[in-house]
Amino acid sequence: MSLHMNAAENQIAPTVLLPGDPRRAQHIAQTFFTDPVQHNDVRGMLGFTGSYKGKPVSVQGTGMGMASAGIYIYELINDYGCQTLVRVGTCGSYREDVQVRDLILAQAACTDSNINNIRFGAKNFAPIADFGLLLRAYQVAQARGLRAHVGNIMSSDTFYHDDFDQYKIWAEFGVLGVEMEAAQLYTLAAKFGVRALTVLTVSDHLITHEETTAEERQTSFNGMIEVALDAALE
Ligand code: ADE
Repeated sequence: MSLHMNAAENQIAPTVLLPGDPRRAQHIAQTFFTDPVQHNDVRGMLGFTGSYKGKPVSVQGTGMGMASAGIYIYELINDYGCQTLVRVGTCGSYREDVQVRDLILAQAACTDSNINNIRFGAKNFAPIADFGLLLRAYQVAQARGLRAHVGNIMSSDTFYHDDFDQYKIWAEFGVLGVEMEAAQLYTLAAKFGVRALTVLTVSDHLITHEETTAEERQTSFNGMIEVALDAALE
């Protein structure tokens, strides 16, 4: 047990996928895991443990935003001993060449969040992915013929911004897209010496406003999960 999860000690695998949406955790477990068992239901933040290609693996919903995700990530590392944490989620694209349904492998994550200011004050920490995981994910995506971009992303504390054009400053500096959790995942992984990666599918486009059908989103989401699992459990 931890403060926010009722999984038993040793019930969560060392490798865990982290979708924001708990229903996605259920979908991942039911679609990709062998013999999944639900390990958490506190606050409806579902988590499951099973195996993939014979290797133990877990999936745990984190909720939206760094305040929520940070709680689960902290407890997975410190109370359950998780060593490899891979966020799987969606993002908005900041750039014309990064299209809806493409994959983004987040090499690093900028943030507008104040959470790291609480830690570092006026100093800025650069939250980065584990290089081995990143390299492996890129190789798996290439082998599967998926369009995958590797680079910087932005982890925002807000989904709805008052100023729509605020994204342009990030785009100018080559940032590929926006989501809401990776910077905190990478910071906590660095603090506690574990491996982390964020794999995203582009669900919406801030420039072209291109949209996808639910079916297209599901297909690209499933492709991303296979990349994450094959990279994390090589
Ligand atoms: N996740 C998916 N799309 C997003 C967006 N436009 N902003 C923040 N997080 C997102």
